Amino acid sequence: MTADLKNKFIIKKISNSKLQDADFSNLVFGKLFSDHMLVADFIDDKWQTPKIMPYQPLSYEPSAKVFHYGQAVFEGMKAYKDKNGDLFLFRPEENFIRINRSAERLGMPPIPREYFIDGIKELVKLDKDWIPTGPGESLYIRPVYIATENAVAASPSSSYRLMIMASPAGKYYSGDVKIRIEDKYSRACDGGVGYAKAAGNYAAQFYPTEKAKKEGFQQVIWTDSKEHKYLEEAGTMNVFFRIKDKLLTAPTIPESSRILPGVTRASIIQLANDNGVDIEVRPVKVEEVVNAAKNGELKEIFGAGTAATILPIIGLKYKDFYTDLPKQDDSYADFFKNKIMDIQYNRVEDPYGWRIKID
Ligand code: COI
Repeated sequence: MTADLKNKFIIKKISNSKLQDADFSNLVFGKLFSDHMLVADFIDDKWQTPKIMPYQPLSYEPSAKVFHYGQAVFEGMKAYKDKNGDLFLFRPEENFIRINRSAERLGMPPIPREYFIDGIKELVKLDKDWIPTGPGESLYIRPVYIATENAVAASPSSSYRLMIMASPAGKYYSGDVKIRIEDKYSRACDGGVGYAKAAGNYAAQFYPTEKAKKEGFQQVIWTDSKEHKYLEEAGTMNVFFRIKDKLLTAPTIPESSRILPGVTRASIIQLANDNGVDIEVRPVKVEEVVNAAKNGELKEIFGAGTAATILPIIGLKYKDFYTDLPKQDDSYADFFKNKIMDIQYNRVEDPYGWRIKID
């Protein structure tokens, strides 16, 4: 059956909501899932009608290609509820563009816009009571797109599945975050998949990041794989450096194929340009940031990502050098966080059209 765009989704609602058993007072990121999920299959060169159905385990044969060759990409987005109970997404079109860019790089067919964007809207409407409304809380939406063909030849799959799930979310990082500049391992290389939200990019970070954690650093900042001289991203976040009052961040595609083009990152760059913040998007040298820290000119480092939002980094390590990064009275991290959250939660006008209402 091919997709009938007039009747885009087959919807099977849960018979007994799990909501009454959910503990919203103690939200751990990504552990609790709402009542429904979306599942859409690409089979025989065609997208099949997507189903919205109760969140549940799905079974796969051990030979499914995703398990062998990691043909898998994903996205991270959030739905917000304002004080009137209206529902919003933040720049979902950017996530749609990015998942298809990631899919193309991994040899996967493009996802139709109406399945992704309209599917997420349907899912959020159905599970709107799962959107927590405490400060900074939202419904984290996780689309994941995988290769499902049962065959172990190393070639692109002939069938795929898109699944979209939703999880009530508070903070991604529960405590303060200190960061270490990585000078041995690499996350990405030129011409590779660093710019894609490929599942394997995250797996490749776990071992070095766990080593950093043992030293008291919750994340690493990756550096370029050739010389380890340029600062790139932190894996779960893009990174911004404030030296005196100038903000610096590394370029993504097309200048660099190694760094994920984050939606929060792009929003900060736009807001900086429109609010008189001096910002440069260019390769940032490790040496430049470490020297600035040594001579007192490094005022802030902050991460930017959908899950993490905007996260001040409170300590930086590079080789034998360590510095605390005390909070600034005129924190840029706070400035951008407030600006972006005011738009996301419908507290101010949105001159950019970033906030998309779900009707
Ligand atoms: C996000 O910020 O949405 C991400 O996908 C990062 C992930 C590691 C939680």
